[in-house]
Amino acid sequence: MPLQNTDRLIAPDVGTESQANAGDTHAVAYPQRPASAEPVAQTAPPPDVGTVVGTFVLQSKLGEGISCHVFRGWDQSLSRPVALKILNWANVYDRAAAMKQLRMEAMALARVKHPLVVRFIDFGFDPRWPYLVTEFFEGRPLGELLRAGGALPPEWSLFLISQMADALGAVWRAGLVHRDIKPDNILVGPNGNAKLIDFGLAKADALEATRERTGPELAGTAAYLAPEQAKDASVVDHRADIYSLGVTLYEALTGRLPFEGRNRVQVIFQHLNSPPVPPVQRAEGIPQLLSDLCLWMLAKNPDDRPQNYDELRQALNTVQGAR
Ligand SMILES: Nc1ncnc2c1ncn2[C@@H]1O[C@H](COP(=O)(O)OP(=O)(O)OP(=O)(O)O)[C@@H](O)[C@H]1O
Ligand SMILES: [Mg+2]
Repeated sequence: MPLQNTDRLIAPDVGTESQANAGDTHAVAYPQRPASAEPVAQTAPPPDVGTVVGTFVLQSKLGEGISCHVFRGWDQSLSRPVALKILNWANVYDRAAAMKQLRMEAMALARVKHPLVVRFIDFGFDPRWPYLVTEFFEGRPLGELLRAGGALPPEWSLFLISQMADALGAVWRAGLVHRDIKPDNILVGPNGNAKLIDFGLAKADALEATRERTGPELAGTAAYLAPEQAKDASVVDHRADIYSLGVTLYEALTGRLPFEGRNRVQVIFQHLNSPPVPPVQRAEGIPQLLSDLCLWMLAKNPDDRPQNYDELRQALNTVQGAR
């Protein structure tokens, strides 16, 4: 099928980087410190462009989440662009907990090494602006692309989801669950290559004790939340990420979410109880096998989904081969 919408993405280079590097991961030892060891930060207004934080100069603002500002920065020691996530004190009620959360994110990221997962560079305790530094990736969030232009051609959707299946395979092998898979946490580069970002909710066994404090209400965005994650976010495994990736695939294929509602409760009710309308019934030109795979990922019971990323990768290859 010819590619369309070339103003939004260039033709994907299907199956090269993502497959070739699928096994390139390693996990490092997981440091643990008691809660009382957390340094106490001062609050400060958000830093301006030009401010030096650690050895990094802030160059431009990239985003602002609930708890963090994200800047593009310049690594002065190694002359390279970086992305810096800096605590947004304006929205922080518990400073020690926020510090711990950012450090947990840094530790989770540092465990994963894969070309399709944004690379950890540094974590620093600056008393005014604690920061997490990662490689800078030139791209736009998939969420922004979908909001601007609606559904993507099926082969682009397949390419992006295949890359994220490989990225999440590395996350899984590192012993982590991402728990916040959604289009806004997937960056897409000009050639269609993608990077997984935002490990702010990532969970590992070693993190469990502290992360459970975030509670199910904060763990994940309702539209992408697996049913079991909506019930109790502290007990989910990697199959919750497979569900959220299924929602992301659904949205990429159809331009719509499988479950829409006026509020969070309505959406979660449908995740728990309603069968999704098959993607083939919502948009033209979607291959039946791809629609079926999407529904498999969206199974309510985690036992009825692809059980791991090898199984998912095999299914994606089958869909790819049938085209
Ligand atoms: N490594 C990166 N390279 C380029 N841009 C990035 C990078 N990391 C983040 N960004 C940009 O910053 C935005 C926000 O980043 P991120 O998703 O990590 O934080 P957040 O969702 O705002 O934070 P949180 O959910 O923890 O409150 C992204 O959508 C992206 O535009
Ligand atoms: Mg995010």
